[in-house]
Amino acid sequence: MITLTNLEKIYRTKEIETVALENVNLTVDKGEFLSIMGPSGCGKSTLLNIIGLLDAPTSGTVEIAGTYTANMNDKQLAMFRNQKLGFVFQSFHLINSLNVLDNVELPLLYRKVSAKERRVAAEAVLEKVGLSHRMRHFPTQLSGGQCQRVAIARAIVGNPDIILADEPTGNLDSKMGAEVMDLLHKLNKEDGRTIVMVTHNEEQAKQTSRTVRFFDGRQVM
Ligand SMILES: Nc1ncnc2c1ncn2[C@@H]1O[C@H](COP(=O)(O)OP(=O)(O)O)[C@@H](O)[C@H]1O
Ligand SMILES: [Mg+2]
Repeated sequence: MITLTNLEKIYRTKEIETVALENVNLTVDKGEFLSIMGPSGCGKSTLLNIIGLLDAPTSGTVEIAGTYTANMNDKQLAMFRNQKLGFVFQSFHLINSLNVLDNVELPLLYRKVSAKERRVAAEAVLEKVGLSHRMRHFPTQLSGGQCQRVAIARAIVGNPDIILADEPTGNLDSKMGAEVMDLLHKLNKEDGRTIVMVTHNEEQAKQTSRTVRFFDGRQVM
């Protein structure tokens, strides 16, 4: 489902050069739930951003769902991202001026899906994440755990094969974090979605299919 070959990422500013990833080779199979672990600054977010086609590697290849992404233009990348990938971030990234339904519908708006179809799809995923009773609420009226479940609903509303989650429970207490993890496991087991998650939590990582560790931009196991 995901194949990264000889991946390297170097950030260059005028004075500093940072090697964020070095010789990364990684394959993620369809239906896998992969954890990525490692100390702060070791390149985890860089890796997730490259898998998510939000950033390009300095060298090496990225293959997602059978497609090499190197030669796509920005418009093609944006469309591919919208159709194949769902993103979940530590800080939710919801739009506070939009209610829950409107937040969840956003990826479909981009695809020019009709208003009626957007509504039906958003209601269905909000039921899936257990928030049917909060559809008219605004993000500021919800708990952190609920916000993250809204963000997950938004990530899956377009039915992507792959979910990328960067420390999805990092801003949540353990109870809310456990709810979010239960939900991610459900999306993996019941719906067969492939998940790549960055986490600092060993217990969480143990529950997933596999853990890959990084140190200083390099895979250590
Ligand atoms: N946009 C950027 N410009 C320059 N350096 C960056 C940028 N993003 C990340 N880095 C550097 O790359 C390294 C890896 O960062 P990151 O992928 O965010 O690590 P992690 O998510 O594991 O904490 C760090 O040294 C960080 O300072
Ligand atoms: Mg990070």
